[in-house]
Amino acid sequence: MGKEKVGWVALLIIVSSWCVSSSSHSSSSSFRGDLSRGKAPLTFGSASASSLVLNRVGQSVVLPLHGNVFPIGSYNATVYIGQPPKPYFLDPDTGSDLTWLQCKVRGARCTPTPHPLYPPSDELVDSSDPICRSLQSGDYKSDCVERCGYEVQYADGGSSRGFLVKDDVHFESNRGRVLSPRVALGCGYNQIPGRYLPYLDGVLGLGKGRSSLVSQLSRQELVANVLGHCLSTRGGGFLFFGDDLYDSSRISWTPMSRDPKHYSPGTAELLFARKPTGQKNMLLVFDSGSTYTYFSSEAYQALSSRVNEELMGKPFTRALDDRTLPLCWRALMPFENIRDVTEYFKPFALSFNSGNQFEVPPESYLIKSELGNVCMGVLNGTHEGLEDRNLIGDTSMQDKMVIYDNERQRLGWASKDCSQLPKSRAFAA
Ligand SMILES: *[C@@H]1O[C@H](CO)[C@@H](O)[C@H](O)[C@H]1NC(C)=O
Ligand SMILES: *[C@@H]1O[C@H](CO)[C@@H](O)[C@H](O)[C@H]1NC(C)=O
Repeated sequence: MGKEKVGWVALLIIVSSWCVSSSSHSSSSSFRGDLSRGKAPLTFGSASASSLVLNRVGQSVVLPLHGNVFPIGSYNATVYIGQPPKPYFLDPDTGSDLTWLQCKVRGARCTPTPHPLYPPSDELVDSSDPICRSLQSGDYKSDCVERCGYEVQYADGGSSRGFLVKDDVHFESNRGRVLSPRVALGCGYNQIPGRYLPYLDGVLGLGKGRSSLVSQLSRQELVANVLGHCLSTRGGGFLFFGDDLYDSSRISWTPMSRDPKHYSPGTAELLFARKPTGQKNMLLVFDSGSTYTYFSSEAYQALSSRVNEELMGKPFTRALDDRTLPLCWRALMPFENIRDVTEYFKPFALSFNSGNQFEVPPESYLIKSELGNVCMGVLNGTHEGLEDRNLIGDTSMQDKMVIYDNERQRLGWASKDCSQLPKSRAFAA
């Protein structure tokens, strides 16, 4: 399937500590996965130092995002790392914990990158470090202490292997302060591309685990352990860390399920055009590393047949020759933008026990293909081996502020025009 992209969703992460050749691998069957253009380079005068003195309350970091769901298939944030700081384009992934960069070490096997490979810092993370241990499964026995090796495998067959180092990462807070915390990140020396090969320097891991960047920033008391993103249907958007950029009372909040690995709002019922579809108890996971949304076979079937039924008698026919995505329709009239045809489609929604709904309007589940057809950006997750998990990917999170609040164990969302960066430090959702 030509351009079908699973994004960065990872099914398995294997972490091992090896000295020379990798010997004992341990694996935990986890499910991890998951990019903008930076503003003008900041001037990082005398870096570091900022950490411990700041009170994290009421401070945030905002990173502009660049990219789109189609045709690029990913978003990226520019992150400045090292001394002197160098820019890297990273794919923000709320489906995986570890931040890693394609790394400059002898014999490295990397995919093409937009910037020179990351020269690793010489401070290694040893295998007894809590961050290293957090990446390993319970029964793991380390046979090498000097270095913490990791291997992440993503659902589309891609993988990265490397070791952890500590280095300075530079941000500017919304209070105008330069923050340069020292964080653990992966030096990836063996990347195997999956079906989808993004032209990026690495992944920005924003999952729930201890190694996640936002969790590391919050332990250093720089920001609250909260992150969010706002992806625009016009492309771009922004990513933020911290909890003072939104008015909490205007957000629909749903408790996070106890799933230790994934950001899950629990189970929901699928509605189409505000009516039940018979699909209940769908286990959902929010994953910014996935370009599209994936429903398990039955729910996928239910949704695609409702969309097809809805199109009967309207100026569309199936476009079987369009291989962009599995389900495409030819519009019998020319159109410029997906917005010109969304009136023929209906929204779907995920309805939670709490009474909250996550509504997905047509522009957040349809794309316009290069052949000028309309294609459905919700795909069959069973086909990708996702089993009973339903992934809410970038496409369905567009034009919403989506918030992952690890402090209060809740997930929130609110409709929003994401094409504007938040200007002031308090903006309403
Ligand atoms: C990443 O962002 C840069 C701008 O900062 C942009 O030029 C580039 O096309 C983006 N790459 C991808 C793969 O989205
Ligand atoms: C989804 O994929 C599975 C596995 O490939 C397949 O058995 C099933 O028929 C597909 N469902 C639909 C509705 O296409």
